[in-house]
Amino acid sequence: MVDTAQRNADVEGVDGGVGLTALLVAAARAIETHRPDSLARDVYAEHFVLAAPASARWPVRVEQVPGGDRDPLWGRFARYFGLRTRVLDDFLLRSAHAGGARQVVLLGAGLDTRAFRLGWPAGCVVFEIDREGVLEFKHRVLGGLSATPKARRVPIPLDLRADWVGALIDAGFDPATPTVWLAEGLLFYLPSEVETSLIGAMDRLSPAGSALAFEVKLERDLWVYRDSPLYASTRQQIGIDLLTLFDDQPRPDSVGDLAGRGWSTTVRTPFDFTREHGRGPLPEPNDALEGNRWVFARKPSP
Ligand SMILES: C[S@@+](CC[C@H](N)C(=O)[O-])C[C@H]1O[C@@H](n2cnc3c(N)ncnc32)[C@H](O)[C@@H]1O
Repeated sequence: MVDTAQRNADVEGVDGGVGLTALLVAAARAIETHRPDSLARDVYAEHFVLAAPASARWPVRVEQVPGGDRDPLWGRFARYFGLRTRVLDDFLLRSAHAGGARQVVLLGAGLDTRAFRLGWPAGCVVFEIDREGVLEFKHRVLGGLSATPKARRVPIPLDLRADWVGALIDAGFDPATPTVWLAEGLLFYLPSEVETSLIGAMDRLSPAGSALAFEVKLERDLWVYRDSPLYASTRQQIGIDLLTLFDDQPRPDSVGDLAGRGWSTTVRTPFDFTREHGRGPLPEPNDALEGNRWVFARKPSP
């Protein structure tokens, strides 16, 4: 039998496997961008969606969706990604401006355009790690748009199951500079031992003043939600079966791990932020978002 990690590795670019999920998030960001009450704006997102054969027919505006906001995928799930984008934009900018981080590392960066969209402090460097095929596609689309980053941007094509630390340092990362790390929509695709080693590596590479945000899923049995409107519509409408892409082994306690290493941690639900912003998804029955948690961590001075 082919295991999840192997299946995810089989497709290199954005055309299938886990790479296709980067296009799903881009489509959601495109839809969010064009909402009159948008939580986050990403003018590049729709260009990715329209450029890839796998997604060229997906909607990039909610008006193109039959059922509009009532559609579980392009309504509620897309809004979820819009909210996540906004919350993590705010976290990264706060960590850089008020917190003093001068390096940003986006793990599993996918089609994240924060290096181009956000106002970074002078001297800030944004490292983007993802697999080669995904970064190549991103480079091609952004190149066609003559997009200019607002910080020094360093793409690092690699698989996070390999030795990424050496590649990051070779690319100019400085372990003595306070850093903000982001693993957005990533960890549940990776084997649990890879998650544990990522957390350990980020800790080792982080001096005091560094920060980290990531997303986890708390449910022990994700398959309970197989027929939830959210997973079912993603499977039926665009052929992405998220449950077969997620790693199916028990997850490590990364929040406890970080706390044990001296980080201060805060765990929030997406719904907390919906209430804060006055828009976004709220709990519903048979909800695939029920166990999603957004974790924010800071490494204090000794
Ligand atoms: C759901 S997308 C999220 C992308 C981006 N963080 C965002 O929120 O827009 C997941 C990303 O993780 C990347 N990814 C998954 N497994 C990976 C691995 N083993 N090494 C590097 N990247 C990986 C995929 O290629 C994909 O771009």
